[in-house]
Formats: sequence, C-alpha cells, structure tokens
Amino acid sequence: MSNGDVSQGRRRFLIGATSVVGGVGAVGAAVPFVASWNPSAKAEAAGAPVTVNVNKIEPGQQITVEWRGKPVWIIRRTEEMLANIEKLNDAVKDPESESPQQPEYIDGIYRSLKPEFVVLVGLCTHLGCVPSYRPEVAPADLGDNWLGGLFCPCHGSRYDLAGRVYSAQPAPDNLEVPPYRFDDDATLTIGLDPEAA
Ligand code: FES
Repeated sequence: MSNGDVSQGRRRFLIGATSVVGGVGAVGAAVPFVASWNPSAKAEAAGAPVTVNVNKIEPGQQITVEWRGKPVWIIRRTEEMLANIEKLNDAVKDPESESPQQPEYIDGIYRSLKPEFVVLVGLCTHLGCVPSYRPEVAPADLGDNWLGGLFCPCHGSRYDLAGRVYSAQPAPDNLEVPPYRFDDDATLTIGLDPEAA
C-alpha cells in the first residue's frame, strides 16, 4: 500500500468515526475529535490500542477519541479543577471508587495515573447516554454547588471531573476508566495496561 492509499483510508475512517460519535449524542460541537489512530483503521475497529499525544491538549480541555466503538475522554485538569474534586468528596456516592469501575492500578479520588489527566469512557452508567462536559463553576443552569463536571442530559445524572457520580442520581456508578498507560510524558495509550509489553 502506498502512502497515498494510507492517508486516503485514514481520512475516510476519521470521517466515519466522527459521524458515529456525533450520532451518539451531545459530545459537544466545541469538543475537538483528536486522536492518533494507531496502528490502522482496521486494527482500531477490532479493538487495537489508541495512542494520543497529550501535549496537544490544553489545560482545562477535554478531547474525545474512539476506542472499541466507545467515546473515550481525556481531560487535562488544572490545579483549580483538582482542588474542586477534593471539595466534592462528601457530595459523591463513592469518593474512592471502591466499587470497581476502573483498573486496579487506578486509585484515589482523582481516578487517574497522573492527576493532570483523567481518562474516562464517555457513557453514562445509567442508560448509556453521552454526558456533556461542563467545566465551568456555578453556571446558571446547574446551580451554585456545581464545581465543574459531566452532566448527563438524558435523566440529569451529575459527575465530577474525576467521573465520580454524585449521591442520589439515576446513574448507579462512577464513569468507567478504561485501561491505559503512559508510554512517555507526552504519549498516552488507551487499551494497554502499564505493565503490558
Ligand atoms: S442515561 Fe444518563 S442519567 Fe440516564
């Protein structure tokens, strides 16, 4: 296959993947669909790992990539966002994620390998809608107690910026964290555990 064939195939897949996620729900028009598709569209569709350059994500930005047919979010959290997560420990149902919704190497209130980056499957644990990224503090429609998080438009479930579900929501569990690892400071691979070769 020539380079031309590769780039043409890649372009077709990117268009297709964007359409699929757009059809799932409110991923958000302002959310860039950024991914480094690795190693090929065909392999990715079969569940191959997806590699992302996290240096391209701005502080406070959320990006969406597709892994195994699901939208997966990476959010680059600021110091303020991390401080707000801590303030919500009493408001969320399972602050330490003791009910397993993540690989065992993910622990603590930030639910991440590095506090700066959280990786979440972007599907509500109630009935699978795609929550909206709402990083702002105390917006008019979500109230004074909102410190930034994910809001599900289908039945109103609220999650914080670690994907922890608030108490007394339709959603029963925190958002899922997929397996992932850092290959180096800039390179995050979704679909491989840290100890994988
Ligand atoms: S699907 Fe999200 S609250 Fe029901």
